Amino acid sequence: MWLTREQEALLRGEYGPAVAKAMEIIVKVGEAIGAPRLVEVEHAHVSGVSYSNIGEYGLEFIRDFFAMGGRARVYTTINPGCVDYSGYSMIISRVYAEKQSDIDKYLAGMGFKPVFTCIPYYHRAPIAGEHLAWGESSAVIFANSIYGAMTNREGGPIALAAALTGYTYYAGMHEKSNRVARVQVNIPDDMRNKSYGPVGLWIGDNIKEVPLLRFRVKPSLWDIKILLASMAAAGSHALAVIPGVTPENSFAVEIEDRVWVEESDLEKYEGVQPAPGDHVLAYVGCPHLHFWELRMIDELVGRMGRPRRGKILVTIPFEYAQTYPQLVQRLISRGVDVAAGTCPVVSKLARKFDIVVTNSGKAAFYLSKIHGLRVSLRSLSEVVKSVY
Ligand code: F3S
Repeated sequence: MWLTREQEALLRGEYGPAVAKAMEIIVKVGEAIGAPRLVEVEHAHVSGVSYSNIGEYGLEFIRDFFAMGGRARVYTTINPGCVDYSGYSMIISRVYAEKQSDIDKYLAGMGFKPVFTCIPYYHRAPIAGEHLAWGESSAVIFANSIYGAMTNREGGPIALAAALTGYTYYAGMHEKSNRVARVQVNIPDDMRNKSYGPVGLWIGDNIKEVPLLRFRVKPSLWDIKILLASMAAAGSHALAVIPGVTPENSFAVEIEDRVWVEESDLEKYEGVQPAPGDHVLAYVGCPHLHFWELRMIDELVGRMGRPRRGKILVTIPFEYAQTYPQLVQRLISRGVDVAAGTCPVVSKLARKFDIVVTNSGKAAFYLSKIHGLRVSLRSLSEVVKSVY
């Protein structure tokens, strides 16, 4: 791999052992996949920071970089941890609170911004054409498809190494020649009162190329967020081209095939309906909710009274509990469990439920795989109604 003089100095250890080690990781991975050079990044987003997911090995990996004097050389944010940082949630377990706090201390010590969210684009919106090194597949596909930024789906270690060096390897989504939509995917016409989660899971399972998504009825940005996250969970997608949304010049289109997603294709992804007597977890917030989505939920539950057959859990960015205290308190007073800076996929649940009803294909995908839970994918309003 060709390196600049500065990059060679970083690799040789002239900027300290943490930078040298981080550089070694990036160069090794880059060489393994044939990257010709490195690329400077503007923002690193480090995933793989939840103790519940990374365990002792991951904690030691992060601690070692901290102990070697690692320090962010670029703007760096971090993904959710495995505890509720607001302290309000009764559903998210605190079993790993001490271990998570150690991880958080090392990350903050390296100068990473403790945002604990999977929607880092609301902290710092990417600019079209800029290079990023982001972990968290749902954020990556959103950054590439909605903002026209350029990032691969980095693993946690590479994103951390990019934070400490300011570079990642130049390959994949960083090269315009790989940002070409080759399959046009036609979304069902009538998605009223349906979740886009099953559509995303179907695309993830069935389409390997970069898709161009064709909608007859324009979805909301929140629907697109769910769709993209679900695609990226079930498949290896990092980009979907959405005409009129994806910034021009950030992609090319060379359509070789056209497919139609049929409503009947989606049934198997919708899962089962809750049975009478089931103790239901109604979950919204994967990816984390934006303020406007939180407002929508507030309006929905405001019309319903208190949940009778289970719990509603919403997951939000870390700082929302402080930024919008009245909204959060009102939701809690209406029987909603609010967890900040975490989610049920990257944590342990403190309570048992018979079934999870969610609008998120990504949450459904992982909650059934990791926690072995029965899942039901429904529209946002049906999710909320499922506990009344
Ligand atoms: Fe975010 Fe957890 Fe979903 S990290 S994307 S809410 S699985």
